[in-house]
Amino acid sequence: MTPAPYTYLQRIDHEPEKTKLQLVRQIMADDPLGFFKELRANRPILVLQECTLVALYEDVVEMLSMPAIFTVALYAPKMANSYLMMHDDDALHYREKSIMQGLLNRDDMPLVRKMVTKTAASILAKAGGKIDAVDEYCRLIPATIVRDYFGLIGMHRKDLMEWSYWAQVDTFYNQPFDIATPEERKQIEDSHVASGKKLGEYIAALTLTKAVAVKFEFLTAPLRKLWNFIARKEDRLPDDIVSRMMRTRFPSEVDFDLQRAGVNAGGLLIGTIETTAQASVQTIQYLLQHPDIFEKAKNAAGVPDPAQFDAIVWEALRFVPISPYMFRQTSREYTIAQGTGRETTIPALTNVLALTQSAMFDDRAFEAPDEFRAGRNWYHYFTFGFGAHECLGKYVGMVMIPEIVRQMVLQPGLTAKGDIVYGGHMPTSYPLTWLS
Ligand code: HEM
Repeated sequence: MTPAPYTYLQRIDHEPEKTKLQLVRQIMADDPLGFFKELRANRPILVLQECTLVALYEDVVEMLSMPAIFTVALYAPKMANSYLMMHDDDALHYREKSIMQGLLNRDDMPLVRKMVTKTAASILAKAGGKIDAVDEYCRLIPATIVRDYFGLIGMHRKDLMEWSYWAQVDTFYNQPFDIATPEERKQIEDSHVASGKKLGEYIAALTLTKAVAVKFEFLTAPLRKLWNFIARKEDRLPDDIVSRMMRTRFPSEVDFDLQRAGVNAGGLLIGTIETTAQASVQTIQYLLQHPDIFEKAKNAAGVPDPAQFDAIVWEALRFVPISPYMFRQTSREYTIAQGTGRETTIPALTNVLALTQSAMFDDRAFEAPDEFRAGRNWYHYFTFGFGAHECLGKYVGMVMIPEIVRQMVLQPGLTAKGDIVYGGHMPTSYPLTWLS
């Protein structure tokens, strides 16, 4: 039911300061779209003690376009080894992001999609018509891509899944504006530290092993080339992203040595699994909960060109994004939406939530925003972020998520045995059955 105008804001305004954030978070969890609609209409910039919420498309874009003012300072305590994501508009961020964008060659994407198709089909064939879609499917597939395409070999995929999980939970959902007891926060932080330690040890061993393997490749290259020439075989080495990193030599002035390569390899793992899993499982549920859209998705899934199907997935993720906001901290005082009736001066060191889901329902950029319309202008979506911190893995995600969903949708008689079960913000289980 749509709330009467001001209902939520009246409740928030009357709530004691001490529990106001808790109420806002509860409303945001229960009815994000209704709440955001009210904010856009009546209080597009909502100032709370702990954070400021920004609801309009234009203001979200303004914020996310100025990384040195709306910074990712809140990421820093959660990230080790000066990872690029905790840097704003500086040399390290610019350099390492562009190196990694080049290594994750967009021309690989058809191949990555095929890898996903094959992995998904094999998991589903073995499952025999019954699966927990979170662990056994939506997490396992990106973990397989992390192993086979990124080259993070030699570990159980369950370990990769766990390391990604704790890093994501602590970094994105254990912030001052998240509601949690001190005990819960400590448990998340301890788990992140423990898994980060294991990840660090693993990455050190992996990069060393791969570096030695590449040296060996280099030393034996003439023999290998000769052998392949005689055998009339193409001279191709086994390829993955970590191997590419090891094979690429940068002069010292570029500052991208073995240690930096290792840090970035770890970043690939952390960024990939939990995000892809959450986006995929929430999309599957959204489709199953909307039989008319599911029917269209099923028809589109059978067509060889995936564009039509993928457009349905991107539109579904507008309704069920992995998070309704991105957060920033101001480095200095800044007046947002200057010259408008809503202009607000935000003091330095304020935490600000860019309500990206709200922006995706703002009719400034989305015609008839409440309607499900596949095929909207892609550039208005915030699914992979916006601006300097736009997702590094965007193009990998753009083939993984729809293909994971597509393979599931293709199963005859697909049925959910209940809703997704969440543990905190993350999905933990979603049992599905089909006719096998
Ligand atoms: C596929 C593998 C993925 C990798 C390797 C990856 C990695 C990253 C990295 C390194 C960043 C930070 C970029 C920067 O600070 O400049 C980032 C940002 C982001 N990623 Fe991904 N990601 C992946 C998948 C996804 C998926 C599937 C989603 C959502 C469905 C997603 C959503 C985002 C968002 C929203 C941001 C922006 C965060 C912000 O602005 O604060 N990512 N990603």
